[in-house]
Formats: sequence, C-alpha cells, structure tokens
Amino acid sequence: MRRPLVVGNWKMNGTRRSSVELAEAIAENFVSESVDCAICPPAVFLAELGAALAESGVCLAAQDVSRFESGAYTGDVSAAMLADFSCAYVLVGHSERRACFGEASALVAAKFVTAQGKGLIPILCVGETLAERQDGKTLEVIAEQLDAVIDAAGLEALSSAVVAYEPVWAIGTGEVASPAQAQEILAFIRARLGENAEAVRLLYGGSVNAKNAAQLFEQQDIDGALVGGASLQAEQFLTICRLAEA
Ligand code: 13P
Repeated sequence: MRRPLVVGNWKMNGTRRSSVELAEAIAENFVSESVDCAICPPAVFLAELGAALAESGVCLAAQDVSRFESGAYTGDVSAAMLADFSCAYVLVGHSERRACFGEASALVAAKFVTAQGKGLIPILCVGETLAERQDGKTLEVIAEQLDAVIDAAGLEALSSAVVAYEPVWAIGTGEVASPAQAQEILAFIRARLGENAEAVRLLYGGSVNAKNAAQLFEQQDIDGALVGGASLQAEQFLTICRLAEA
C-alpha cells in the first residue's frame, strides 16, 4: 500500500507575512493519519515556515537545489542547507526550471543525486509540452527525462524517490489532464522503475484543484498530487489532502 502524498508548490508567490499566514492556516487544520503533506515555499521563507509547521504533520520541501555541495556558486542553495532547515523533499526538474532556466536532463539528474546524498527525498518532475504531445512524442520525452536520472543515480535510487508527471500544457492553464491520460503516463513511468516500482509514489500535477482531484486519485497509479495555484488557498489545498485519503 503506497501512502498518498500531496505537495503544494507555491512557486515565486507571496510575501513573508502572507506565507506565514498560509502555512499556519494549513498547519492548524491538517489532520490526517494516512496522507503525507508537504509545502514548497520560496527558499527565503523556509526558516520561518519551519517554525510555523512544527509538529503539524505538514512537511517542508524546497522548489530547487544546487547540483553542487558547497562553495563559490553564487545564488545557489545547497542540499545540506535545505536538510539543515528540515526540508524533507525537494523538487528537481520542474518544467519551469527546464524551460525558463535551461535545465537539461543531465543537470536535473545531478541535482537528484546531490539531494539524495544529503538525505532529501527528490520529487523528480517530468512532462511533455503541447507540441511534443501533438507530435506523438510524449512517451519518448518522458522516457528521456526519466532515463537520464536512472542512468546517473541507478534504478535503486528511484525506489526511495517520488516521480511527478506534470504535462506542461496542463500547468497553470486550467486544462487538467484527464484521469485516463494521467494514468496512462504514470503506468508507463512505473513500468520503467524496475523491481521496486510498486513501492514508488507517483504524483500527477497540472491544474489540480478541489473539484478534479477525487477522480484523479481514483486512478491506480496516481498516489497523490503536486499542486500549484490551488495550494495557495489553504481551504482548497486541505480539501485536496482530504481527498487523497483512502
Ligand atoms: P498548477 O497547479 O498551478 O497548474 O501548477 C502545477 C505545478 O506546476 C506544480 O508544480
């Protein structure tokens, strides 16, 4: 039985004050024995939100991590620093990092390895663009993104990670993948994960909200969600967490 996981990716939103208020509203009302929940605030808010989430059962997670361990890498935040601030998870390879910051799969794989080396659980994000889907290249793209990490880290390393399928065309567009579309790709991903595949948690992300989450969670290979916009509203995010129970 895989334990469901719901992750809120706040992206580059909020102020110091609004972030604390949102984290507190989530922490105070999150009650679940059976679902794991994490939020990824902007890195500058991690310290303060760690305190706001303490003993709430809601984990802290980061949106990105340096591929390097330490040293002269201006602007980067290391895996050790994130672990020091009690982050449990870190996103690697989010499509916005790939598209806006030119992160190729080799860099994503290096970040994955560095994060795991410091005890963080990487949430590896994969997904195709609309053009790639229309060209019939969806599976090829997903396989390339996944295999880069498998080649660098080894199949065994994936068994203690999380993989999130986020079709780029569904992110921030309101155009959620159908449960069948999401299931098809997540089954494809699971089939590539080797003998421990059944234990790996797979998430869907892309326009998940309180209205469409239940249908997604009914799918066999969807173990939770990576939520963007809807995670900025405590009530809606908590509803999605509740729907992941069972
Ligand atoms: P939205 O839920 O806003 O579509 O964002 C999804 C996402 O990118 C989460 O990482």
